[in-house]
Amino acid sequence: MNALRSAQKNRLQRRISRRDLLRSGIATSVLMAAESTAFGRTLTKPPARKSGAVPSLTLSCEWLAEPLGIQTPHPRLSWSFSDVNNDVRQCAYQIVVGSTPDVTADLWDSGKIDSSDVSALYQGKLMRIHQQAYWRIRAWLTDGTALPWSKSARWSMGPEAEHDWGASRWIGRDDQLEVTQDRMPGTTEALKEPNFFSAPYLRKEFTVRSNLRAALLYVCGLGHAELHLNGQKVGDTERDPGFTNYDDRVLYVTYDIAGMLQQGANVLGAILGTGWYDVHDLATWHFETAPWRRRPRMRLLLALSYSDGKTETVVSDESWHCSAGPILRDGIYTGEVFDERKDLPGWSTSGFDTGAWTPALIVDPPAGKLVPLTCEPIRITQDLKPVSIKQPKLGVYIVDMGQNFSGHVQLRVKGPVGQAITMRYGETLDDEGMLYTEPIDHLMEPTAPRQPFQQDTYILKGSGEEEVWEQRFSYSGFQYVEVTGFPGVPTINNFLGRFAHTDLKPAGSFKCSNETMNRIQHATIWSYLSNAQSYPTDCPQREKNGWTGDAGLAIECGLLNFHSASFYRKWLDDFADAQQTNGAFPVIVPTCGWGYGELTPPWDAAYLIIVWNLYRYTGDLRILERHIAPARRYVEFFLAHRNRDGLAPALGIGDWAPWETETPQDYVTNAYLYYDLTLLSKILNALQDVKLAQHYNKLAAEMAAAIHQKYYYPAGRQYSNGSQTAQSIALYFGFVPESVQDAVFAKLAEQVEQLGHIDTGILGAKFLLHALSQGGRTDLAFQLVTRKQMPGWGYWVNGGGATTLWEHWKKDTVASMNHIMFGDVSAWAYQWLSGIQQEPASTGFDKIHFRPNPVGGLASVSASYAVPRGRISSQWTVEGKHMHLSLELPCGASARLQLPRGCQLAAPSAGLESVLTSGRHEIEVLIA
Ligand code: BGC
Repeated sequence: MNALRSAQKNRLQRRISRRDLLRSGIATSVLMAAESTAFGRTLTKPPARKSGAVPSLTLSCEWLAEPLGIQTPHPRLSWSFSDVNNDVRQCAYQIVVGSTPDVTADLWDSGKIDSSDVSALYQGKLMRIHQQAYWRIRAWLTDGTALPWSKSARWSMGPEAEHDWGASRWIGRDDQLEVTQDRMPGTTEALKEPNFFSAPYLRKEFTVRSNLRAALLYVCGLGHAELHLNGQKVGDTERDPGFTNYDDRVLYVTYDIAGMLQQGANVLGAILGTGWYDVHDLATWHFETAPWRRRPRMRLLLALSYSDGKTETVVSDESWHCSAGPILRDGIYTGEVFDERKDLPGWSTSGFDTGAWTPALIVDPPAGKLVPLTCEPIRITQDLKPVSIKQPKLGVYIVDMGQNFSGHVQLRVKGPVGQAITMRYGETLDDEGMLYTEPIDHLMEPTAPRQPFQQDTYILKGSGEEEVWEQRFSYSGFQYVEVTGFPGVPTINNFLGRFAHTDLKPAGSFKCSNETMNRIQHATIWSYLSNAQSYPTDCPQREKNGWTGDAGLAIECGLLNFHSASFYRKWLDDFADAQQTNGAFPVIVPTCGWGYGELTPPWDAAYLIIVWNLYRYTGDLRILERHIAPARRYVEFFLAHRNRDGLAPALGIGDWAPWETETPQDYVTNAYLYYDLTLLSKILNALQDVKLAQHYNKLAAEMAAAIHQKYYYPAGRQYSNGSQTAQSIALYFGFVPESVQDAVFAKLAEQVEQLGHIDTGILGAKFLLHALSQGGRTDLAFQLVTRKQMPGWGYWVNGGGATTLWEHWKKDTVASMNHIMFGDVSAWAYQWLSGIQQEPASTGFDKIHFRPNPVGGLASVSASYAVPRGRISSQWTVEGKHMHLSLELPCGASARLQLPRGCQLAAPSAGLESVLTSGRHEIEVLIA
């Protein structure tokens, strides 16, 4: 791979000898790139395409559309363009910010700034708490267009200091922990039942005067709070505010409720759920022993501003009333029990009789600092209608949702009072067609009676009307629902699947003419979203844990498919919080203490990998500034594990979930130490700490030499045991000396060709595809991916019937069927089929490197990706030996096109520049 890079770098200084280059596949692809992109030649410009439409601007603040309640005094304001003419760049912009919706610029007027930047830090007046800012932008383009002012967008400032919360106190209904905390796992003691677990209902009546101007509500409910106002749920979000280590940070959510308030009497209500704060479910990871664990509690502040300039607040305090309600139990793993007979009709409306309610308890605050949730909330984003319902056993119904996903089911039922309907969620069925949850519930502690797992129970009020119910504070991973206790015969219309996850908006799309590849992309998207639950998880059923390695492997899949930067930014804070003073990271984040121990290099590396990728994809240097210290601390900790020979011993787990061949862990450990050092050095370089960057770069070079010395066997042209993972990790991480790169690559390609299938775990599954493509063998990588026999992604989505990605290649050992750790395959498809890549020194995709690969009989590929400046798209079709390529670049970006070996530009495109500029380019290519 270094050969590739240096060949590109030196292209203007020396002529590349065709004979030299033809020696290897890698080099040949460089040659063809050099020819087809006409390096060093002066060519004529293509005619500008006039789209006719005026480009439009999309605004974001801190990577979100309209964040309310942030604490950043100088938020990053960004804008992107759609539909610009060819070869057009922004040459100037102006931002105005005002304190009212008409954007009077009383807070900031940047003036006209000559720049092609598409983001700027707010430099206006310091904003006060609760203050709202409305901003807009106009831009000037190099083709002389002066864009009109954009629509306005807003952000607002939330409480930061303790005194900002005024008289608001933490309140709850009870403060005594459930007995499970003291119980030794594995005990057969019966679970203490209802009421004690009952989810608290809280309410407060207050008055609003006339001429209300603004009303911002800040709430932190631990584990979760569902807010109600005047009989209606506030907002459309679920399970607010998101999971953190509550001893470090607790998140508050901001809602704008001005439109929901009425003059006169109003009632605010809250239902509190246990979530990750008060876990009473007993499972391997022992969240029931979390140091932060207490009964649910809440802190709230409602800031009312009136047109006369006066402000009032409503706060959580002992004047609130509370009661038990219909939610008898809620558990993050176990699910919910809801007794409709105990419902409290009208509890959040004025005039409700609180005679049976008690004053709220003032409770201790959590230890963590209150900070705003600054990433997308969890929402229900899709409803799924079941595809079938069967009765494998009398009274037991199995509902098939046709798709594996995270969420729950909405139930519609009519029946007698007191009838309990239980819905149990699972991913597979046994031979009798009954729900089979063994592979996913075995990590729950054995108790008697057995704890429920992924199960909701609804007890009917029996009003004679249809009752509609869905749970609030848990979620499950499932395709099938086992229904028992249903009165009468249910049909599919009694059930509706609700897909719930962090509401990340699509940033990219990929499709092609190969059905298997499309199904893999589909499965990846569903697994990715199922595992976005305010932090990236491994699986939505068995563990719901933030396994770091899984997220590290899936980072580019996440960034290419979704606007996920703020999601990762939040999780990186969790990650940094979880670091011990010696520099160690746990393997799950957040954690209550479980998962520390030995270093686990491929998992720990997720921190540096995500930090670096987030910077590369967004161009936001603040990410690096924020995380450089923990990153260095970790790398130093890792370095301290080396032996005298400069190499580290086998640490942690290596290439997890392998097919057949395992890869020695000591080799993998050292490969990761090398990789961490290179990432740290790049981060320091970007931060312009050149001296320190050189220091780590030198250490990386020493590591590379030591690894090569110990693990390279020239006769076998192999590293370590020569497994697919061993060879590809070396090529992907880049520690192979240039002199043997071709040999190592050739050995890898030969082996893969001979074996005909993938033979790696989760690490190799990523590196292998990229290493093959990097070496010019995307055709081979594509074969591995789409192969319909086991092992491989293609098997999963064909013979395996998968609708999400699995945890293991094999079906018979399948544990979870909804893991994201093999999900980089989607990023590979963007990068190597549609060919959307970024030049090494670029950030925010300012400099694109198009590397489309017409392989595997593909007739077409179509992909797009939203970058900070706008939209990139790459579409191609193949007919015989002719490829038509349609590329789109956002305003101000440039690109280099590199065609694979054997391809060259056809006559009509002969005048194409090697540096493509913004706009759309239609390119004709001849395939050899
Ligand atoms: C998790 C994985 C994780 C692995 C590492 C599993 O239990 O589900 O996703 O990365 O453990 O040990």
